[in-house]
Amino acid sequence: MLERASIMKRIDRQRIRLDDQIARLMETEAGRAEYWQQLDVACHENPLMKLFEESLKLDGDVIECGVYRGNTTRLLGRRMRDLAPTKNLFACDSFEGFPQDRILDSDLGPFRFRFKIRRKFKHALDVPYRLTQFFDVYGIRGNIVKGFFSDTLPKLTPREYCFIFIDCDLYESHLDCLNVLYDQLVPGGVIVFDDYAQAKWPGASLAVDEFFAGQPTKPERVAGESKGVWFVRKPISDKKIVTTYEPLRIYG
Ligand SMILES: C[S@@+](CC[C@H](N)C(=O)[O-])C[C@H]1O[C@@H](n2cnc3c(N)ncnc32)[C@H](O)[C@@H]1O
Repeated sequence: MLERASIMKRIDRQRIRLDDQIARLMETEAGRAEYWQQLDVACHENPLMKLFEESLKLDGDVIECGVYRGNTTRLLGRRMRDLAPTKNLFACDSFEGFPQDRILDSDLGPFRFRFKIRRKFKHALDVPYRLTQFFDVYGIRGNIVKGFFSDTLPKLTPREYCFIFIDCDLYESHLDCLNVLYDQLVPGGVIVFDDYAQAKWPGASLAVDEFFAGQPTKPERVAGESKGVWFVRKPISDKKIVTTYEPLRIYG
């Protein structure tokens, strides 16, 4: 444990401490109410939530690709519980970091080194358990999908999504998501790219621009987002797909 802590970055340790505080809050009814309120405030402060709330009016579920410690997952779940409690939320990640052999030269921003990027986001094996607890406590229809996207996404039962959140940094990870999920986005539905146009992650823009090349759809910036988060709205004229729904929980 000590050895693991010593190689863990300070930011990871801080996030784990924060998650431990949340777990303690969730032990009592008063704490659960307090945390629910804190999430509500965080949703109000997040410019992405307006776009998300609009999307929830459409048919279809919600999927997040790139969860890490679940900060965004909890916000999405909070809003879904209020506005669309029958929708499913899919939280997809390896929870062990990047696929190590799929970090390309084109993923390396200025002064960024492959050996450092390889170490990122590795400390999240506890997150599926924590998120499952969060979903259960607050009655959110959440599903953990653990594994690399190239393995997990093609195996998920095809369904409709009204909102797809992609935050997975790498060129190939973006294409793994887009190639499977874009067809399942309902017309008018939204796909958000957290890493588009970020100098740190040049592979994200390459993948998105390549995927939408020759299509009328181009990424737009989310209003009010200081970091610059981008989205694509699927044209209404795109065909609708037929899907099956069944209750689903995937752990590992
Ligand atoms: C920037 S973090 C996600 C942050 C999270 N959305 C949040 O709001 O805190 C990127 C995550 O993408 C995951 N990831 C990247 N490529 C992946 C792939 N091909 N398969 C599974 N997970 C992947 C990493 O494990 C990492 O946890």
